[in-house]
Amino acid sequence: MRKELVQPVSSVVAGSHVWIRLVRTITMGARATETTRELESTSVKYQIGGHAEKMWQRLKGILRCLVKQLEKGDINVVDLKKNIEYAASVLEAVYIDETRRLLDTEDELSDIQSDSVPLEVRDWLASTFTREMGIVKRRPEEKPKFRSIVHAVQAGIFVERMYRRTSSMVGLAYPAEVIVTFKIPVPNLITFAEALEVGYSKYKNPYHNLIHAADVTQTVHYIMIHTGIMHWLTELEILAMIFAAAIHDYEHTGTTNNFHIQTRSDVAILYNDRSVLENHHVSAAYRLMQEEEMNILANLTKDDWRELRSLVIEMVLSTDMSGHFQQIKTMRHTLQQAEGVDKAKAMSLILHAADISHPAKSWELHYRWTMALMEEFFRQGDKEAALGLQFSPLCDRKSTLVAQSQIGFIDFIVEPTFSLLTDSMEKIVMPLIEEASKSESPAFGTPGQNSLGAVSNAETQRRHNFKTTASDGGTHTENSLATVDLTSFKNNLMQIIQANKERWKELAEEEELVRNVDEQEKDQSRNSTDAQLQEETRSIQNESSQGSDGTTCPTRSIVLQVVTSDTSLSDESNSEKCTNSDPNQKDLTDAQQETQNTDPLNGEPIHCKKSEDIVKATEQKQALVHN
Ligand code: CMP
Ligand code: MG
Ligand code: ZN
Repeated sequence: MRKELVQPVSSVVAGSHVWIRLVRTITMGARATETTRELESTSVKYQIGGHAEKMWQRLKGILRCLVKQLEKGDINVVDLKKNIEYAASVLEAVYIDETRRLLDTEDELSDIQSDSVPLEVRDWLASTFTREMGIVKRRPEEKPKFRSIVHAVQAGIFVERMYRRTSSMVGLAYPAEVIVTFKIPVPNLITFAEALEVGYSKYKNPYHNLIHAADVTQTVHYIMIHTGIMHWLTELEILAMIFAAAIHDYEHTGTTNNFHIQTRSDVAILYNDRSVLENHHVSAAYRLMQEEEMNILANLTKDDWRELRSLVIEMVLSTDMSGHFQQIKTMRHTLQQAEGVDKAKAMSLILHAADISHPAKSWELHYRWTMALMEEFFRQGDKEAALGLQFSPLCDRKSTLVAQSQIGFIDFIVEPTFSLLTDSMEKIVMPLIEEASKSESPAFGTPGQNSLGAVSNAETQRRHNFKTTASDGGTHTENSLATVDLTSFKNNLMQIIQANKERWKELAEEEELVRNVDEQEKDQSRNSTDAQLQEETRSIQNESSQGSDGTTCPTRSIVLQVVTSDTSLSDESNSEKCTNSDPNQKDLTDAQQETQNTDPLNGEPIHCKKSEDIVKATEQKQALVHN
């Protein structure tokens, strides 16, 4: 028994008889009753059947049984205590195991393996939206959520009015509440915003520029208002959301994390290849605020400052697309649980959704954003070619299937994200709406307590009675919970996404046609080159084989084979002969034709230098002829 008790938990869990051992251990310490024997057999059955949920229940049963025995007093207390501790550690290990299983993204990836998705697109989806590093350590769920009334009062009103008045200085004016609440020094805010703009413009990116930052910030704002989630968030959390969106791509280099890793850039080295850009975005933005004149958070209390920072870091790091599938899976799992949704996770999902939201906007916008992103990817491709690196997925301007990739992006990334977003918002906001509707206020506006516990009067008033008045004193926009219409929000988004997908489908057909024409042209020119070559080879062979004595050279058939296979680029066996990355690529002369082929294994374009192969073949041929 002792041996089992000291056995490392991991080995127990890894072992195939963990449940029976656990039960045995416990029952040896306690008394082997009928109940525990019965538990023993069913536990093993459940293990074999893989019903983790039921195993949990059974284990709970075992522990309760032990507690009863303890209450009766017919047990050695020391043994019992040890066994209970042991059981707890096993439970913990099983929990970790289960969490790992949940975080496993294979399920999602298997969807991508569908034949309807072109190989290039599949490859891109798998390499961009998953992380090969394995299991990410999860933050403990039990992050304290308690907010004191003092904090709520300190928070006051900030975000909702940030955009609606104009200032003589920069086109923005700040309501008194803003200044009073967070005491954000306005000159600092202006200097900081200007510095952000400079950082976003540093690399002159077609996509990751200050307009993208503004777009994502505005979208986050829109989501917060139209889903009603702002009523669930505290002022500090709302500020964190807006701030995170504003800085989320700060000083983006216009190249991907993978490019940084492959080129061993300074930032990749600095951040050990982990969420390289995202780490930089947060770090560099916070570095700006180290300067006194840009420190917009100077007047936050220490606790608020730390909390805001923790939320911002978590949100921005979660915009790393390689964590996408894990993020979705974890959140889906959370929604199935009875407990409430973790604030930081919900906020991260909002930012992530806003970051990939252009397919949920009008076609004109979506198309422009897509083309801007493609141009950015292609510029990376140009750099990769110049460096003799393999093209990253979607980075080869000559062969990327833009429309096809967008269909894949919408199907596998955007739709599931927005569907999860709306489901999450429903789970969080519906109870607030119900609760507010019970209180008999005109706009669900009577101060009351929501499910989060005590809130300040000011906070409650904001949540339930919030009205936005245009600066000209004109239109009144009601942003109370009463106006939240999640169904319309969802339907509207989904309709636009679908419509955009249909547009891409039309374009994909054209893309396919163009591709076929290109292929045909390539084939034709390949055939004519091959024919020329064969003709040329034949004439050389004829000359050589006739030789001085007029006898036929026995190597003729071999020579033909070499030439033919080395110039037939679509031949599978030949693709092995082509180098995936050719450092000499840029040394090619104009006369040397470069032909591209796709690796049949991973869909990566392969560079094959037809003329180089021809030269090689001719050399071989000459060697053979001279033998
Ligand atoms: P970023 O804005 O840093 O984070 C979200 C990422 O999603 C974005 O960079 C792009 O890499 C990716 N993304 C956004 N829109 C598209 C799109 N239409 N097609 C492919 N990738 C996209
Ligand atoms: Mg980013
Ligand atoms: Zn972004």
